[in-house]
Amino acid sequence: MKRISVLGSTGAIGVQALDVIKMHSMRAVCLAAKSNVDKLAEQAKEFRPEAVCIYDEDKADRLYELLRGEGIEILTGMDGLCKAASLDSTDLVLNGVVGTIGLKPTLAAIEAGKDLALANKEALVSGGELVMDAVKRKGISLYPVDSEHSAIFQCLQGSRREDLRKILLTASGGPFFGRKKQEMKNVSVEAALAHPTWKMGKKITVDSATLMNKGLEFIEAMRLFGVSADEIEIVIHRESVIHSAVEFSDGAVIAQLGVPDMRIPIQYALTYPARLESPSKRLSLWDYGTLSFYKPDFEAFECIKAALKAASLGGTAPAIVSGADEVAVGLFLDGKIGFTDIGELVSGALEAVEVSPIHTADDVISAVEAAAEYVRERYKKGL
Ligand SMILES: NC(=O)c1ccc[n+]([C@@H]2O[C@H](COP(=O)([O-])OP(=O)(O)OC[C@H]3O[C@@H](n4cnc5c(N)ncnc54)[C@H](OP(=O)(O)O)[C@@H]3O)[C@@H](O)[C@H]2O)c1
Repeated sequence: MKRISVLGSTGAIGVQALDVIKMHSMRAVCLAAKSNVDKLAEQAKEFRPEAVCIYDEDKADRLYELLRGEGIEILTGMDGLCKAASLDSTDLVLNGVVGTIGLKPTLAAIEAGKDLALANKEALVSGGELVMDAVKRKGISLYPVDSEHSAIFQCLQGSRREDLRKILLTASGGPFFGRKKQEMKNVSVEAALAHPTWKMGKKITVDSATLMNKGLEFIEAMRLFGVSADEIEIVIHRESVIHSAVEFSDGAVIAQLGVPDMRIPIQYALTYPARLESPSKRLSLWDYGTLSFYKPDFEAFECIKAALKAASLGGTAPAIVSGADEVAVGLFLDGKIGFTDIGELVSGALEAVEVSPIHTADDVISAVEAAAEYVRERYKKGL
């Protein structure tokens, strides 16, 4: 029975991962969340893990109260999260935490020799070189959870790396597809959260609307598959049926298709190489009739342009755009800045914060903090 630690168990990815774990009688040995103690306690009572972690230390007392007499160890803070990622009894860590805060537990899991199912894209974008070096050094398996990267991973099965020519990274285009920058200036938070095809946490949903998500995924693909920026092409595909594709030397293109349901890539990451039954709806191409493809509009969607520039700069540049985006999206969700301000702040941070090489996780965290600080200062000064 595979024993899994689920970091971010109360979020969109975490909840779906627990569905998969339950369906296939795997064991959740540890669950971790940031502040949602009630949901975490409810999950703990159902899944009976050895330990739970609540990151916000001021929520620990409430968790002790809710789990009194249950015999479940309670961990807190970053030390607790790293311990949750490296328990002796864990075979695989599913990291479904949102934000660069997921970097240290990702590295802790790898150092402890745990296999990793990685949804937390910000960790891979910001600290990708550190993560991939550690993966190689420790010889662990890293399974992508993001649907696009899972698709690429699936398309590459049984092929030789030297035969890969190009990755076709698909994107839904989000709710504002086809609009110009000016036409998005006053869009509401509700409109940005109305994703046409996927149901996800708020940060990634806004990132999908600004196309920052695709920029982050572009960098994620470079890290995971060891390709350069000119070996990846972004294709807007409105129906989210083709989750991505790869082109080989002979011109053959292999794509992975399916309904937009994250339980499919989550399950593949947890059960690889097995393909077990899934409750997901089956794909009927007749239901779609037509599939559409477009080029991204880099002028209207400033975030993606900044992310691609960061990809070419390397070093801490991806951490800078990711860190700036995290704070800018939070400000947008709180109604404090406009939608198009996100792109301006992300691009501004990349101009303003010095890019340097990465040697340690602290280099990444400093770059993320500098970018976050830049965004907060700009906001305080009225942008
Ligand atoms: N949702 C998707 O379909 C999808 C698809 C592909 C990739 N991803 C990636 O997967 C990650 C999670 O996305 P999501 O949509 O599941 O986000 P979400 O619904 O907002 O959930 C985030 C989870 O992370 C937890 N968390 C946040 N900060 C934490 C911390 N410091 N310590 C411990 N736990 C912490 C949250 O706990 P609380 O509930 O207590 O706040 C929650 O459980 C993101 O990196 C996203 O880009 C998501």
